[in-house]
Amino acid sequence: MSQLLEKIDKNSLPRHIAIIMDGNGRWATEKGEDRLFGHFHGVESVRDIVEGAAELGIEYLTLYAFSTENWERPEYEVVGLMELLVSTIRKEVESLNKNNIRLHVIGDMNMLPGYAKKELDEALEITKANSGLNLIMALSYSGRWELLNAVKNIAYEVKQGKLSVDSIDQDTLQRFLCTSAFPDPELMIRTSGEYRISNFLLYQLAYAELYFTTVRWPDFRKENLYEAIIDYQGRERRFGKTSEQMEKPVSQ
Ligand code: IPE
Ligand code: IPE
Ligand code: MG
Repeated sequence: MSQLLEKIDKNSLPRHIAIIMDGNGRWATEKGEDRLFGHFHGVESVRDIVEGAAELGIEYLTLYAFSTENWERPEYEVVGLMELLVSTIRKEVESLNKNNIRLHVIGDMNMLPGYAKKELDEALEITKANSGLNLIMALSYSGRWELLNAVKNIAYEVKQGKLSVDSIDQDTLQRFLCTSAFPDPELMIRTSGEYRISNFLLYQLAYAELYFTTVRWPDFRKENLYEAIIDYQGRERRFGKTSEQMEKPVSQ
């Protein structure tokens, strides 16, 4: 583990890592257990990865915990997930605070049951002065929902005369996203061997490096995070330019 940690270049860490935490259900089913068993174990991975990211000095960690499409799952699973969310926040908020971690949420909070929303609001309030890792939970979130919301709110401002159509640029759009306070992720990790985005941060991932692993989320630990970061650091991010243009001038 420490060998992997030593391989990480601390000077070129991604500022923002986003993770699609996938594979809980299959992890459990493969063990002959109920899907909820997988979600319970997924919480241990969340704890480990949050700790790992904070130790490394990562500034932003976004975790996709529940998509707008996940509301369509069987009721018992949705209810189980909501209860797990509430009990986890209740249990973890103190340790988030102790570790100077600030919690944020992105997504359609109006969809959440009242008791879950209340618990979340309290946790946001309790951790709001913390200046270490920003932990962003994507809950009842989808990229299309977010973009639609942004378009509607921009349209309202235009209608009210607060914004002119000609002044709308990429910065304007960025301002209306729920991630407006955060930089775009440089690294996006998806676990469980699925190779898709599943409606996650569609706008923000434009130039993210994508890292896929077959490890199911409940088995994902700090070492797996280190592997992803090492892989990321071996890549050349060109942003549309050529390799030659990206070469740094030789310093004298
Ligand atoms: C990810 O695991 C957690 C949520 C989407 C809530 P899944 O529940 O999607 O697990 P699989 O993909 O069915 O194995
Ligand atoms: C994406 O996983 C959402 C979360 C991890 C919260 P899903 O399991 O819902 O995605 P699909 O259905 O495999 O694309
Ligand atoms: Mg899944």
